[in-house]
Amino acid sequence: MSALFEPITLRDVTIKNRVAVSPMSQYRARDGYANDWHMVHLGRFALGGAGLVFAEATAVEARGRRTPGDLGLWEDEQIEPLLPVTRFLSEEGAVPGIQLGHAGRKASERRPWHGETPVTEEDAVLRGEKSWTAIAPSAIPYADGWPAPQEMTEEDIQSVIEAFSAAARRAAETGFKIIEVYAAHGFLVHQFLSPVSNHRRDRWGGDVAGRRRFAVEVARAIRKTWPENLPLIFRLSATDWVDGGLEIEDTVETARALAREGVDMIDCSSGGIGGKDRPRRMKLEQGFQVPFAARIRSEAGVASMAVGFLWDAGMCERAVAGGNADMVALAREMLDDPNWTLHAAAALGAADGHKLWPEESGWWLMKRQRLVEKLGLR
Ligand SMILES: Cc1cc2nc3c(=O)[nH]c(=O)nc-3n(C[C@H](O)[C@H](O)[C@H](O)COP(=O)(O)O)c2cc1C
Repeated sequence: MSALFEPITLRDVTIKNRVAVSPMSQYRARDGYANDWHMVHLGRFALGGAGLVFAEATAVEARGRRTPGDLGLWEDEQIEPLLPVTRFLSEEGAVPGIQLGHAGRKASERRPWHGETPVTEEDAVLRGEKSWTAIAPSAIPYADGWPAPQEMTEEDIQSVIEAFSAAARRAAETGFKIIEVYAAHGFLVHQFLSPVSNHRRDRWGGDVAGRRRFAVEVARAIRKTWPENLPLIFRLSATDWVDGGLEIEDTVETARALAREGVDMIDCSSGGIGGKDRPRRMKLEQGFQVPFAARIRSEAGVASMAVGFLWDAGMCERAVAGGNADMVALAREMLDDPNWTLHAAAALGAADGHKLWPEESGWWLMKRQRLVEKLGLR
């Protein structure tokens, strides 16, 4: 029996296996509106057998987009073009999830292949994309060469919390069954959590509890509009990899605080906060963030998802079977092989032949396999 192919139930949602497609920004939306690209990009992972498919980081307000091409759910009209996505994923047996976020001081950025630097006049000329003013807990730029964001007022803070709540209501109306809040990789919620980016002296900063308040309030506000029977996940950067930044011990405490607000699982990533201090070296190796998922699970007592540099089916199986994580999330490997889950099932002996494949392709592949074997061709 494979642990990776055991279903898991969170609240009223049962996911058929422990494989999630990690959120992957496509930067292909126009004014935050989804289109056929998002449908095809996400749909292929459902056909490829993943139990949970996350739509990319989706902005809860227009100024919270990281790039001009980010997806958004800040107005009701953005629901309709996403309806085919949730319908298709659900019909093909995958649970549709969405990641809600706000870029904070990392807003108004060029797409990765345009330089991952702030949007300038040049972008307006080349692509008709204008820059906008970013907001953040403190007026500290993300990195050298970045403009200082505007420090958020109490009203700004309340309106962004409200925007998370409203976007959650829209996500439910769109048919998404799981929300993940993007509280990692140096985006707004993480900017509040980390002492690197949050130098406030009011109740939204100062000590650990103050810095954690925004994340807690976002969870609380989402729980008011997001149905009680649907799961809520937070993606956290377990460590900032920076001296004086967040450490895994802080994140264990944050996970406990979020669980008290009705958060059901922590997706355990790391890094991304920026700042002047030279980052500590993270040892990049397959599954390098699995130990964070393990600590959140055992020390905070919250279900966890492991992500990052995972591609080997056996390693994913061991992460779940060994009690280090309840689920795994894969991003780049899924781009390389959208059928990764189906291939993993075969490698782990979790499925008889091509049984888990959609019949439209599995039937043919099974037939070909028999023929190839009979003819001794492979
Ligand atoms: C194309 C691409 C887009 C991404 N966009 C997001 C995103 O929108 N939200 C997020 O939390 N992480 C994003 N990430 C990070 C992935 O979700 C994942 O955490 C990271 O790539 C490590 O997993 P991997 O080694 O399996 O790729 C993105 C990664 C890629 C490759």
